[in-house]
Parts: sequence; structure tokens; C-alpha cells
Amino acid sequence: MATFPKDFLWGAATAAYQVEGAHDAEGKGPSIWDTFSHLPGTTYNGTNGDVAVDHYHRFREDVALMAELGLKSYRFSISWPRLLPEGRGTINEAGVTFYSALIDALLEHGIEPMITLYHWDLPQALQDQGGWESRQTIDAFEEYARLCYERYGDRVKLWSTFNETLCFIGFGYITGAHPPGIRDPARALQACHHVFIAHARAVAAFRQCAIAGKIGFVNVLQTHTPLDDTPANVAACQLADGIFTHWLYDPVLRGEYPIELLHLAQSSLGAPVFDPGDEALLRDNVCDFIGLNYYKRETVAANHGESRLQINTTGQKGSAHQAGNEFGFKDLFKFVRNPNGVYTDWDWEIYPQGLTEGIMQIKERYGDIPIYITENGLGAKDPIIDGEVVDDDRIDYLRQHIDAVADAIVQGADVRGYYPWSFIDLLSWLNGFQKQYGFVYVDHQRQLARQRKKSFFWYQQLIRHHGE
Ligand code: BG6
Repeated sequence: MATFPKDFLWGAATAAYQVEGAHDAEGKGPSIWDTFSHLPGTTYNGTNGDVAVDHYHRFREDVALMAELGLKSYRFSISWPRLLPEGRGTINEAGVTFYSALIDALLEHGIEPMITLYHWDLPQALQDQGGWESRQTIDAFEEYARLCYERYGDRVKLWSTFNETLCFIGFGYITGAHPPGIRDPARALQACHHVFIAHARAVAAFRQCAIAGKIGFVNVLQTHTPLDDTPANVAACQLADGIFTHWLYDPVLRGEYPIELLHLAQSSLGAPVFDPGDEALLRDNVCDFIGLNYYKRETVAANHGESRLQINTTGQKGSAHQAGNEFGFKDLFKFVRNPNGVYTDWDWEIYPQGLTEGIMQIKERYGDIPIYITENGLGAKDPIIDGEVVDDDRIDYLRQHIDAVADAIVQGADVRGYYPWSFIDLLSWLNGFQKQYGFVYVDHQRQLARQRKKSFFWYQQLIRHHGE
């Protein structure tokens, strides 16, 4: 019997800001990333998505490559300010038409679109009025979601509301490395709560509009393991699971926060504050499926030192784990090097088994929820030999992780699709263009010419043989 179900979706993923470019074309409004990336010192070597890989103008060429690759599905995000330059109100029809044409092109090639409504590029106009800390942004998100359902709901069946609260709230409101560049845990918790409520409202609207499809949420899946079995490190690891996983999954899959952590947060930080009706909204609007973005596991130890909130954005291996430099929160936990681990140049541990373990942990805690692996991939500086991009390390990485998905399916998990990150080399938010993930190389010295990598042909064969 084949491991992967007959209609399993072999996909690939991208996000609007990272590929589209055309940052101010045809009526698009600015997003917080347009503003932030233009501030000195915010991104790697000042890179930004003004042009990115110009997918906005080249999407037909890109979709033709997707078809050649044999993709069954393509996950992409919609740029909210391209549709609604002010975040709400006036509609930019040119933006609506762009995604409509993209969807049609995908469907013509038999590629199922999977839309992410929010992959971090909040309209700047909404940030100016408080961003995710304001409940008005919840209303605006519902308006935006309804516009998308109305214009694309006749053709698109797979939807997710948000991508990775852990990153855009964590970096945006705790470490300050992403816009809006705030460092305040209480404000982070309140902004995050508003995201959960915006998600619930968008799910309710989806069901009211009777869209013939499914709606979910995409989260980071990061597995944690204690450095050793000392009680302090085991407790630190449980706390990391609680904050990085349960806090972010429970509200969208169970319709409530993990109660002990909620009490702890409210008593120590005074957040999140609920409005009347919030509890019911969460309870009544849980997801149809969950999207999991898996890249790495973290080894956890108790942290008796100060908070350190830097990550490796240079690709200089080892810098994240130098003594005293480890990412961590004072008195809570820190992420340390696994002495037996295999790491990428960005100090991300390559641990395929963690994907099986993570999927099974989700199944154990949340039951038989349908799962899509919405991101998984290797960020690397790919070797070019005689003009060919020979990304053997990526092939190894993906092969091992696909085996890990197969193991989870054999163990009874309902995994319905796998979307490597990324379809094409794109802008990494903080790492510029040097951290490559794609099946397709983009030559920035030759007018962004596309070139198939070795992994392109490998994945093409894998899809042809349905992963076996
Ligand atoms: C995920 C994001 O966090 O990881 C992507 O959804 C991102 O947008 C990807 O690009 C890889 O992260 P990085 O930092 O290596 O680009």
C-alpha cells in the first residue's frame, strides 16, 4: 500500500513580500515591511522587498515553472495593502486582478491554490492607528478577509488566516527585530490576543459566506528537548513548550488558552485583557486544519542569566551558540547547542525525526485534526559548479523530512500535503538573498533570470512517483 494518500498535495510555498516586489506599483499601499526595511540597520545589508524576485511581473513564467515541476498545490500569501492600500475602505482593483490572474493561471495548470491571508505585511496605515494592539485592526482584518472570500472564494478551497504568530508577534513585540520593533511582553500578549480574535472573526465570516473550502491557521512547529534530565532543564523545556507551542495552538484548535499559563500571564503582566464576547468567539471558531512550519528543534536549558534576543542572521556558523550569546529569556529558558546535533550555517539544528515527533505531539494534544506541512526547507548558500546549482544538501534535507512525514502517516497522522519552503529563491526577512531555499535559482546579476536547480529535477521525480 502507498504511504501517501492518493490526493496528497505535493506543493511549495512563498509569501507576498518575499517574492512579489512591485512595492508601490499600480495603487499598492505601503506595508510595515516597506517602511521598516527602509530604516537603516534593520535588515541584512539593507536588503528589502522593493523588487524582491519581481514575481508580480513574472508570475506567468513562475507558474509555468511550477507546472513543469509538477506541483499539485502552491501556497502563497496575499499582500493586504495591495488590495486595500489604507487597510480598509477603498479597494485597489489592480491588486485584486493580480491575484485573480495568478489563481486562474494556477488552476489552468491543475495546481490547487492555498492562500495565506496574512504573512506579516500589515498595511502601514493600520500600524499608524495602533496595529495589532488596536481592536480596530480586528475589524479591518475581517473586512479584508471578506473581500478575499468574495473575489476568490469561488475558485480557492484552501485558506489560512495567519502565518506564524510566534515570529511576527515574537520578533515584532518582544525582540524588536521585526516591525513594529517593540520590546514589551505585555504588549506582545495583547497584540497576539487580537490576532487570535481576528482569526476567529475571519473563520466565522468564512462559514457565513459558505465558501466551499477549508480554513486553518499556520504555526511554527518547533520541537524542544531538554539539554539533560536535570529537573531545572526539564522544567525549562516544559515552559518552552507551553509558551512556544500550547499558547499559540490552543486558542485556534481548542478555542481557549492553556489555563495555567493564562493565569500566570494575567497575574504577572496584566495581559491579555479580554473583551466581552472574546471567549465565545474563540470557542466557536476553531480551525478546520492546522498548517505546520517545521525547520528545526531547539535544545533547552534553564536560564539564570540575562535575556539575550539576538539570532544568527549572518550565516556564520556557531555565532548563535557562543557562550553568553544564546537566545533566551531571563529566569525562564535559553536555547543551547546540542553537542551531538548537526547544524546549518545559521545554527538551525537539522533533525528530521523532530518533524515526526512534532506531528505526533499535535495529534496527541489536539486529536485527529487534518495537517498540512506548510513550510519545511534548508536555508543555505548553494554551490554553483560549471553553471549548475548543485544543491545536494537541500535534496538530503528534504528527502529525510519527507521520510519523517511518511513515518507520521504510518503512525496514524492525517497529513494531507507537504509544501517545501520555498518554490523559488526569495528574500529572507532578516537574511537578505544570501540564504537560499528554492528549487529555482534567481540570478540577481542577470536581470533576475530563473534557473532550475538540481533539487528541481529531484522533486519533479519525487512528485511523479508520489513520494515513493
Ligand atoms: C518562516 C517564514 O518563519 O521561515 C518564512 O514563514 C521565512 O517567511 C522562513 O522565510 C525561513 O526563515 P528565514 O529567516 O530563514 O528566511
